[in-house]
Amino acid sequence: MTSVSRRKMLVTASVGLAAVSSQAHSMGRTSTFKFPKDFWWGAATAGHQVEGNNTNSDSWFVEHLERSPYAESSGDACDFYNRFEQDIALLAKLGLNTFRFSLEWSRIEPAKGEFSEVQLNHYRKVAATCREHGVRPMVTFNHFTAPLWFAKLGGWENPDAPVLFERYCARAVRAVGDLAAAAATFNEPNINALLRWIGLPPFVTDGMRQGLEAAAKAANVPVFSSIPLAEPERIEAQMLKAHGLAFAAIKAGAPNLPVGVTLAISDDQAVGDSVQRDRKRAALYTSWLEAAKQHGDFLGVQTYGRTRLDANGIMPVPEGAELTQMGEEFYPQALEQTIRYAYAATGKPIYVTENGVATDDDSRRIAYIDIALAGVRNCLRDGIPVKGYIHWSLLDNFEWTFGYAKHFGLVAVDRATQVRTVKGSALHFARIARRNAIG
Ligand code: BGC
Repeated sequence: MTSVSRRKMLVTASVGLAAVSSQAHSMGRTSTFKFPKDFWWGAATAGHQVEGNNTNSDSWFVEHLERSPYAESSGDACDFYNRFEQDIALLAKLGLNTFRFSLEWSRIEPAKGEFSEVQLNHYRKVAATCREHGVRPMVTFNHFTAPLWFAKLGGWENPDAPVLFERYCARAVRAVGDLAAAAATFNEPNINALLRWIGLPPFVTDGMRQGLEAAAKAANVPVFSSIPLAEPERIEAQMLKAHGLAFAAIKAGAPNLPVGVTLAISDDQAVGDSVQRDRKRAALYTSWLEAAKQHGDFLGVQTYGRTRLDANGIMPVPEGAELTQMGEEFYPQALEQTIRYAYAATGKPIYVTENGVATDDDSRRIAYIDIALAGVRNCLRDGIPVKGYIHWSLLDNFEWTFGYAKHFGLVAVDRATQVRTVKGSALHFARIARRNAIG
């Protein structure tokens, strides 16, 4: 989630192809390009967005408030909790070699200090199923949601949050560490800063604040804090500390496992004066890029589009631009620039851990993938160590405050029957993955 309008919408409840291909022609780059031999081709999900009935989480609690900022409840989601075997088999059958999924802390530690062996074993089975299918499991230890008890203690605002997270990571790595191919401590810990920085209209920020106040009241606690509603300046220091502690805890449990963090990074383009662009970068990325440098074997780049900034701040989407379902500009060219930026800032190997588009016109998803991958190719040609491309998302799923109306999936899900339908874009992407080549 990276551009202004999409972020705005998150909390409130065809240009490119032609340009890139003509550029490619003029640069003589239309020939077949082979990706490195061990390139990771994958699709991503996140526990709360696909598993269903994550009833012990902070998000579920807020979703069910009388005046919830969420459009609907996550409900059964894609019932991935029960259907992971079929879904992983489907991903493997398509020919993808990597699956990114997250652990749900609220299932693993349903009460403070009480760990569920059954749930740890469940996630072990998810990772083992990947391995049985020749698929690399890439495990995110926290993808936004946290246990309800944690939110009631003030969530990431709580000074004890880092050690609570460290303890959970130390426990969870014992279940999946030997099977995982890579791990991320956090998914997009800079999301709150991004939401706040873009200057949300007061009705949105009021809605967020009221949501948290209502949750605190309903839970009968002084502070209820939850991503992505919390104030960034109240949580960032704890999350940075938590990342460092979690990194060490995961490494201690699985010394050979590559561990990193994934960041939401927009292609921030300065139009004229670059002061605002630089301010945005300083506010959103600098501390996390530094954290990734200090405690990280790789950096996960998550890009959906661009943000143009002039001397006054973020500019509106250009007149007449093609829009995605999220109201964002369709701009897959962004990925090449964010990879370059992230690599220049950290020098770490890069995995694209999310990139995708919300659309019901699947031909646009195909175009999006092609343009984004042309950008990855350009980075590889310039010697940037891009190790993999993991598309968001495997399944149409619960898009946070929007509910189920936005479709990012390579595979459609009929939520009444839970029937999966493979889209043309999945076949297209899978063909690229199997050939390990574009062009
Ligand atoms: C998040 C996902 C989300 C996706 C699309 C990313 O910011 O990690 O959870 O569904 O963007 O908006």
